[in-house]
Amino acid sequence: MMKDRLLLSMAVEATLLPQGNRRRIESNIKQIIMLETVKYLIGSAGTSGFGSKSTGEEVTAAAASRLRSITAIVTGATSGIGAETARVLAMRGARLVLPARNLKAAEETKMRIATEFPGAEIVVLPLDLSSFASVRCFVSRFLALRLPLNLLMYAFPRYFFIINSYALSRYSLLNRGSVSNRNNAGKFSHDYAVTEDGVEMTFATNYLGHFLLTKLLLNKMAETARETGIQGRIVNVTSAIHTWFSGDSLHYLDLITGQKVPYDGTRVYALSKLANVLHAMELTLRLQQMEANVTANCVHPGIVRTGLTRDREGLVTDLAFSLMSKLLKTIPQAAATTCYVAAHPGLEGVSGKYYADCNEASPSTSACSREEATRMWLASEVMTARFRLEALPPSEEAEM
Ligand SMILES: NC(=O)c1ccc[n+]([C@@H]2O[C@H](COP(=O)([O-])OP(=O)(O)OC[C@H]3O[C@@H](n4cnc5c(N)ncnc54)[C@H](OP(=O)(O)O)[C@@H]3O)[C@@H](O)[C@H]2O)c1
Repeated sequence: MMKDRLLLSMAVEATLLPQGNRRRIESNIKQIIMLETVKYLIGSAGTSGFGSKSTGEEVTAAAASRLRSITAIVTGATSGIGAETARVLAMRGARLVLPARNLKAAEETKMRIATEFPGAEIVVLPLDLSSFASVRCFVSRFLALRLPLNLLMYAFPRYFFIINSYALSRYSLLNRGSVSNRNNAGKFSHDYAVTEDGVEMTFATNYLGHFLLTKLLLNKMAETARETGIQGRIVNVTSAIHTWFSGDSLHYLDLITGQKVPYDGTRVYALSKLANVLHAMELTLRLQQMEANVTANCVHPGIVRTGLTRDREGLVTDLAFSLMSKLLKTIPQAAATTCYVAAHPGLEGVSGKYYADCNEASPSTSACSREEATRMWLASEVMTARFRLEALPPSEEAEM
């Protein structure tokens, strides 16, 4: 996985060199990409002992005793990667809290899991991550249950699917051939929306709601870790597409929210996923300052056909998926990295890292910027506090 960094430095070096040397380096880069692609396709195990073909069940086998005594909040559990992650955690004995905007779907998830694992303890609570009020309400309801909290697993997306050959080639270069393509520039470019709090919808749902939720639950997590002696874990599900965003993130957010530039769904999605990575980095620092026995990491789950394409079913989507079929994961495989980071004993004390295919990987240069992580955190505090001050009546404001 550290090959990402090697590739990047080789690519930079290549641009500085005379033609002959450049060719040699370019050919080395191609060889590494081919090797990494082959490793991905055959599912060769990395240093963790797992690889792209590992499943959630396999990676949690060694963590069964830890998982039996934990309480986990898993967002996005009504479908796709979140649903499988919740299923695996329940299978290993974890108590689950499933927040959902679609309560019927969440109850169905709960029923499915309870049928497969009788005795599974699952609580469903309402939560719409695009609304700060809903996030605050969820936290109040959750805290009123007086449950411990050991694991926060964020697998909620608001995103879309790209069918774009430029995107494909760019992604495969950066990620050793494991193709991820999201966004349909066409449809999503018409899908501009702002939340009730006045923030661009994709950024608010994928990142800001999650930022607020974490912030409001941090003391509970630290307290649980202190009382139980079990290290708490926060897992942000991001995407390798975060590497596509470069530039001034907050300035761009301002432009896009204010409709001062044409809406670009791909770029906003990449920005929201970059914010997920920066969030885990900054959280790590703040958790250390709090002396909380809690870690925060982020995960690229790999590419899998999930509910994300539900709006785009049809011939073109089918064709794109069939062309990429060798590069796609199954849902149990896509849940492996989230489960690995959430539970594996080998990750005790590991924080602020980025994982793909159950192994540590390198996020983009922007995602490694300490300055950017702090800037994003401070801006997020302002954005979520602005709502508190402006939208809540004085009495409620005093309570939170
Ligand atoms: N699939 C991939 O290829 C892929 C690749 C890279 C990264 N990821 C990441 O993996 C994560 C899971 O993706 P997936 O493929 O499993 O997606 P999915 O099948 O579409 O599931 C999305 C989940 O998020 C929930 N959700 C969406 N908006 C919400 C909101 N406003 N409030 C509360 N819940 C909301 C959905 O609930 P409803 O039932 O209410 O819709 C659903 O449970 C995402 O973070 C995504 O960015 C996926």
